[in-house]
Amino acid sequence: MTTLINVNLPKPPLPPDSAPAPADTMNAMHTNALMHAVRNGVKDSRAQSALNRLLPRLESFWEVENVSQREADEIQLRIVQHWDDLFGHLVHLYGDQWDFFYHLEQILLTIIRGWRMRPEPLKNDDENRINNPEWYQSEKLVGGALYVDLFSENLGELRKQIPYFQDLGLTYLHLMPLFAVRPGNNDGGYAISNYRSVDPRVGTIDDLRLLAEDLREAGILLVLDFVFNHTADDHYWAQQAQSGNEEYQKYYFIFPDRSVPDQYERTLREIFPTVRRGNFTWHDGMQQWVWTTFNSFQWDLNYRNPEVFRAMLSEMLFIANTGVDLLRLDAVAFIWKQMGTNCENLPEAHTLIRAFNSCVRIAAPGLVFKSEAIVHPDDVVRYISHKECQTSYNPTLMALMWESLATRDTKLLRRSLARRHKLPERTTWVNYLRCHDDIGWTFDDADAAAVGIEAFGHRQFLNAFYTGQFEGSFARGVPFQHNPDNGDMRISGTLASLAGLEQAIEADRDDWKELAIRRILLLNAMMLSVGGIPLVYLGEEWGALNDYDFVKDPAKAGDTRWVHRPKMQWKFLDELGDDGSIRGRIYRSIRKLIAIRKMTPAFGGLDMELLILESPHLLGYVRQHEGNRVIVVANFCEHPQQIDSNRLRTAGMGRFFEDLYSGQTITTSHPLELGPYEFMWLHRV
Ligand code: GLC
Ligand code: GLC
Repeated sequence: MTTLINVNLPKPPLPPDSAPAPADTMNAMHTNALMHAVRNGVKDSRAQSALNRLLPRLESFWEVENVSQREADEIQLRIVQHWDDLFGHLVHLYGDQWDFFYHLEQILLTIIRGWRMRPEPLKNDDENRINNPEWYQSEKLVGGALYVDLFSENLGELRKQIPYFQDLGLTYLHLMPLFAVRPGNNDGGYAISNYRSVDPRVGTIDDLRLLAEDLREAGILLVLDFVFNHTADDHYWAQQAQSGNEEYQKYYFIFPDRSVPDQYERTLREIFPTVRRGNFTWHDGMQQWVWTTFNSFQWDLNYRNPEVFRAMLSEMLFIANTGVDLLRLDAVAFIWKQMGTNCENLPEAHTLIRAFNSCVRIAAPGLVFKSEAIVHPDDVVRYISHKECQTSYNPTLMALMWESLATRDTKLLRRSLARRHKLPERTTWVNYLRCHDDIGWTFDDADAAAVGIEAFGHRQFLNAFYTGQFEGSFARGVPFQHNPDNGDMRISGTLASLAGLEQAIEADRDDWKELAIRRILLLNAMMLSVGGIPLVYLGEEWGALNDYDFVKDPAKAGDTRWVHRPKMQWKFLDELGDDGSIRGRIYRSIRKLIAIRKMTPAFGGLDMELLILESPHLLGYVRQHEGNRVIVVANFCEHPQQIDSNRLRTAGMGRFFEDLYSGQTITTSHPLELGPYEFMWLHRV
């Protein structure tokens, strides 16, 4: 590992002919002012001298690119502001490379090019967000995620569906990866062969830009993925590597024989054990082994090579400039490898993301990151910081909501919420019930032990429960990536199928249907109120069931996650207005919850305090924000539960409350009863 201390900066290469010293006096004066800013704004002396050398070299860029003095000032001041961070991170990662200064300059130029290409409306948003850095904490944010092809065939059609999103109340739309992919299996878009073109089956980059504009007008943020741990095996870089180009072989981890891979394997986990054992794939053409953490056609990028950092930065800024507000950083846990470790969540992975973040703060400051780390909760939070990922999926909360639904006991959920919900300033959670991926039981074993749960056995119980093998289970999930060696398994399935609706419909039991619908709404009510940005996986909003037809498509058959990625059934839309239909009832209820959330300031921010309630089946918390306060109570079992009203009175500081959802008035003169899976959002009246 490199340290900040014993780094000798190599001498800068000679300036190219096109980078003369500033010519006229105006420029000279301006340069002096800038140098002054550097002296005052950059603390680290090495960072200072590097910047002092680099800034004059940008003059030629301003000239060639016709950048006005005002614009150049603006961006240079932003560089100065973030230089300590950026320089520090890059030195940490690459300071020991003999040509560090060259890479530093190239990275700076890439940032400036990204900024230069940024469309004017996005620059305006940048300004607004710099002045309102808490913008993503708002209760007004409610997200939806979808696959363009499965939802609406293509981007053009998707633009026509904006009224649907508005009707539901969404203000954030995550399009699952839609870039050009390899033929055949492409891991749901996560095997990208070109980050600058859209999969022709769904449209073009211009279609994407048009959609982004329409969304912007409709007040809906755009979220896209940055799949930066790996490229597809047919990405240009991988193709070059395959044809023997050594420059590009250095973009990946390629080994002539098993000796080094075997050493790594000793400490690695297997992520997709049913795809292939181990983490390396033999490539026949090259006659070499390639590191492939996920599918064999997804080649891990080697970020020890600064050129990979620069190249991916360039792709990232290109994507950002199509009009993205929030970028989902895919598979963050895996991006740095170190022999002898499990190659997950390493310190350099954080430095790398921080370095990307510093670049964004300069080139596209309106953009924020969302971390996708589906790992141990202690590791999940390490990615969350306004200097790293400002937002993050909340996989622990997701898993524990399902855990509580299976056990009817909220103790593990409460323990986790009490200790793990709070986040550093200027960051927030993205809460979800289901997404395009599986459910893994990533809770902390010690948290479980503290509430009397033995983790290993409990995970086996949860797997049995959610695959419907546990007696009395209501769930209809499907196993994902069962590892016969260690018994590990994850769960696929839609929200509705996991919550019992599929079983109830099959059994044609109205009472079961009722319970299933209540479970679905209960989880939604939690997701929408607990603090953070709620994210609906589209289809959930009307109770989509598992779709077993995926096995008919050979490119999907081997991956059970497709069971919960059904095609949108537009024919159901007619039913959504009808409260008598199951779909209509779910849709209208969720829409109502979303609308209330957006009108209730208490649901902004993250401030959440648990209520101590007697029944183990109950969950209660107080949300508070900007002087507004709401008490949320929820019953995680099918039997009625009582709440001592005195608790409500003291927590809500009032004697009368209104349940914002049902509109009924609650008085604290006698105990409050919650029916099967009932929840309330209580506001003082
Ligand atoms: C992320 C995606 C998942 C994909 C993996 C590899 O975890 O969510 O769908 O399989 O990365 O890209
Ligand atoms: C693993 C990875 C996660 C990915 C998932 C896909 O859990 O940690 O990043 O989404 O696999 O199934």
